[in-house]
Amino acid sequence: MIIRKEGGLKLIPDNIIEEIKAKNDIADVISAYVTLKRSGSHMQGLCPFHSEKTPSFTVFTGTQSFYCFGCAAAGDVVTFVRRIENLDYPEALRFLAARCGVKIPEDNENGNYGIRKSRILELNREAARFFRTLLLSSDEAKAYLIKRGLRRETVNRFGLGYSGKRGYEVADHLKKLGYTEEEMHGAMLLGKSDRGMFPYFRNRVMFPIIDTAGQVIGFGGRVMDNSNPKYLNTPETPAFNKGRNLFALNFARTECQKELILCEGYMDVISMHAAGFRNAVATLGTSLTQEQARLMKRYTEKVVIAYDNDGAGRAAADRASRLLGDAGLEVRILRIKDAKDPDEYIKTFGQDAFRRLLSESETKFDFMLRNVLTKYDINTDSGKIRAASELCEQIGGIYSAVERELYTEKTAAALGLSKESLESEIKKQVRKRNTAESGNFEKRLRNKALGIGDRINPEHAANPRAAAAEEALLGIMMLHPERLSQTLGSDPPLKDEDFITTFNRRVFTALKKLYSEGTTDVGALGAEFSCEEMSRIYEMQLKREGLDSASDEVFYDNITALRSLHAEEEKDIEKLISAKLAGQSAKKEKE
Ligand code: GTP
Ligand code: MN
Repeated sequence: MIIRKEGGLKLIPDNIIEEIKAKNDIADVISAYVTLKRSGSHMQGLCPFHSEKTPSFTVFTGTQSFYCFGCAAAGDVVTFVRRIENLDYPEALRFLAARCGVKIPEDNENGNYGIRKSRILELNREAARFFRTLLLSSDEAKAYLIKRGLRRETVNRFGLGYSGKRGYEVADHLKKLGYTEEEMHGAMLLGKSDRGMFPYFRNRVMFPIIDTAGQVIGFGGRVMDNSNPKYLNTPETPAFNKGRNLFALNFARTECQKELILCEGYMDVISMHAAGFRNAVATLGTSLTQEQARLMKRYTEKVVIAYDNDGAGRAAADRASRLLGDAGLEVRILRIKDAKDPDEYIKTFGQDAFRRLLSESETKFDFMLRNVLTKYDINTDSGKIRAASELCEQIGGIYSAVERELYTEKTAAALGLSKESLESEIKKQVRKRNTAESGNFEKRLRNKALGIGDRINPEHAANPRAAAAEEALLGIMMLHPERLSQTLGSDPPLKDEDFITTFNRRVFTALKKLYSEGTTDVGALGAEFSCEEMSRIYEMQLKREGLDSASDEVFYDNITALRSLHAEEEKDIEKLISAKLAGQSAKKEKE
């Protein structure tokens, strides 16, 4: 399977793909994201795809593959780059090609690979440009931005715009440039209803959302009065994933070796940048995700949370601080006084006051200690006991013993209790956490074995034995490609219909096609499967490694098992049908 254009022309030739892979050693590439330590024949580190404290992410340099024993992420160097950089298959190849200086031959016509995403990005850029010209000709929108205290320079830097009064203006403009309504719907600039297409953003100030590669991936739009919803954000599109991007990270990442400031709103970020705090970013109208926390970890060691000064903001700060801490970031929480959010604070008290606020930002623990101390009346015995027990529980949840020691001292001082009396309570909490965690781990393993919650192959849970046989067969065929042609020639040959679960059948069909084209590089399936799917495919292969995969017996046993399960399933269906028929005739008799 080669990446082809429509019409069958090759876009990235096989030999170039091979060269790209050969020149990008997997351990080398991964080391840029994960600290790897050698352990025998392989290397290990903390998995970048899930949050963990002990390394279960393993890189096999011999086979140039990776596998995480915690979350089952698996694959080759291309899969890794797809996942961590959020790219599709051809984009990941181009990324790696650039990294090692391999030239991909220019295609003269427009390549249609990844057409939807790249076309959407192009279209978004044109739209952003057009929104800016609309802003210049709208007195109302200009007046609004001036009222919000924005200077022309800031408006230009962030590329702010205006959607037009009716909202159709941008569609008319894009049509002239040759974009279709379907494509505009793909970018979600047009929504679709029973009555046809309608403009998504109407009479709003537009905030383009730009990723770290400088591409316009989506928009936020704000009304200029008190109507609702106050903000609209581009829904998910092939180019826009809210949970994986941060507003203004394109600017902030070059400023933030020391720290990033995380806020709630677009306007907070814009005010901060205008006041010289160019390391501010915001989530895109949703709460912080683990992926965003890891994204920040790529650019900085420390994050200051500057959320709104209200109950919701404090609760969100608490949650965010955990996520950021889990990603290995040092976290501070800013305490805004006498203003509702950073934007208002800077406008009221000025940038020097905000700088002072930043320097006074508290550690997660201080933030929590203060919250607990205001919650209970520690002048009463019962209040003191409850405060102590809540704090001990929090301290017990901290992994670092040094940190625990430090916070125990602080708590003892704040409550006027001895350190020793708190320590035994904290030990209890640590033990409780450890047993809870091992319980969770076992549950996860059990569910995984049963295929419960399997998003890649949802039919796994209902057909655990068939899925296991299918995966064994596919794994073997990937390790020993000659097996595939053997079964095709055998009597009766292994057929697509022999596979019970749809996902595994798709893999089988794709493997056949791949091998018939003379390639045995499983990585090429990436043109057809998502990176999560690719991880599953690699997992099948990795699971068979070291097992007795070469023997005829194991292979044919699995084929026989699969076929007998199939026969059973057919019998089940027959039973079901005859039961249904019997039910129907019984019903008829009653009538
Ligand atoms: P201003 O009122 O313009 O200063 O906005 P703000 O940034 O202070 O907004 P607010 O604190 O109310 O909300 C913070 C962020 O949540 C915004 O920047 C948006 O990303 C998001 N948000 C706010 N209101 C809405 C809404 O009605 N719908 C959606 N989808 N997101 C919203
Ligand atoms: Mn706000």
